[in-house]
Amino acid sequence: RSEPLSAKPLSPPIVIAHRGASGERPEHTLASYERAIEQGADFIEPDLVLTKDDVFVARHENNIADTTDVAEHPEFADRRTTRTVDGEQVTGWFTEDFTLAELKTLRAKERLPLLRPDNTEYDGRYEIPTLDEVIALAKRASAETGRTIGIYPETKHPGYFASIGQPMERRLVATLKAAGWDSAEAPVFIQSFEVANLKRLHAMTDVRLIQLLNDKGGPADDSGLSYAGMTTPAGLKQIATYAWGIGPNKDMIAVGDRPATLLVRDAHAVGLRVHPWTFRAENYFLPRSSRTGLDPRRHGRMDALIRRQLALGIDGFFTDFPVIGVAVRDMA
Ligand code: G3P
Ligand code: CA
Repeated sequence: RSEPLSAKPLSPPIVIAHRGASGERPEHTLASYERAIEQGADFIEPDLVLTKDDVFVARHENNIADTTDVAEHPEFADRRTTRTVDGEQVTGWFTEDFTLAELKTLRAKERLPLLRPDNTEYDGRYEIPTLDEVIALAKRASAETGRTIGIYPETKHPGYFASIGQPMERRLVATLKAAGWDSAEAPVFIQSFEVANLKRLHAMTDVRLIQLLNDKGGPADDSGLSYAGMTTPAGLKQIATYAWGIGPNKDMIAVGDRPATLLVRDAHAVGLRVHPWTFRAENYFLPRSSRTGLDPRRHGRMDALIRRQLALGIDGFFTDFPVIGVAVRDMA
């Protein structure tokens, strides 16, 4: 495709509810997304994996051992297995071994019960949502609130899924097209760590694409790239040929009071927008065994870091606590 990539500024910066309001509800449930919408998030983030019958569902990884009650279902005991996913051996239950109807018999549970004990109150209540259900929620909420609530899907393990005969790109584009959300103006960003996945999507759709970046290693695909190389001015220029923006680990922009990097400036210089991840209270304050909540004493430093990165010019950010993110964004 030869059209110039859009670099329209987003003003004000967007608040992206990371896995929904996942600091307050089990992640990737409609309840978590609804909570985020109530709190004023602009976008809700479904991480996407595929079922055996090729339906996109919202899970952070294809292994559902840690985020569902699958272990309590004797009828699925024999589906526990070990797979190599992106070079790592993983043991558990995998979405690609379950039909959607089977997955719908499971219930979500809190991934981090020691860190977020209050969320365990909701264990066993909610189904695993499909992408279609997440889109329907965003549309319904947009109509009810008069605000535009978008979705910010991330393709999880697209190279792995392609290797087992379940490529994601065409299906994702078709799903968005069916929703009427297949243009650069649609309230949608598609994010991925994998370069090849984004390049394939770029050839198929005008939906805005976000290259995710981490602070070490490189993409889990055969691009041969390193994240360090991708964040140089030359690397960013390359990314700008297929993506609308970058989603760096927030520590790549600034850590605490240490001097900030030039990543935001360098990305903006080549027309890329910047949406760092993930602001969560527990990173800054709490020992792993502590309880969380919305006690401002526990969120002060998260506020400060978001504020600092907003001052550095970020165009939006991912947070597990959209209630805090929206408040900080609106005060900035
Ligand atoms: O998508 C941004 C951020 O969510 C990437 O990390 O592991 O939480 O999906 P992860
Ligand atoms: Ca994600």
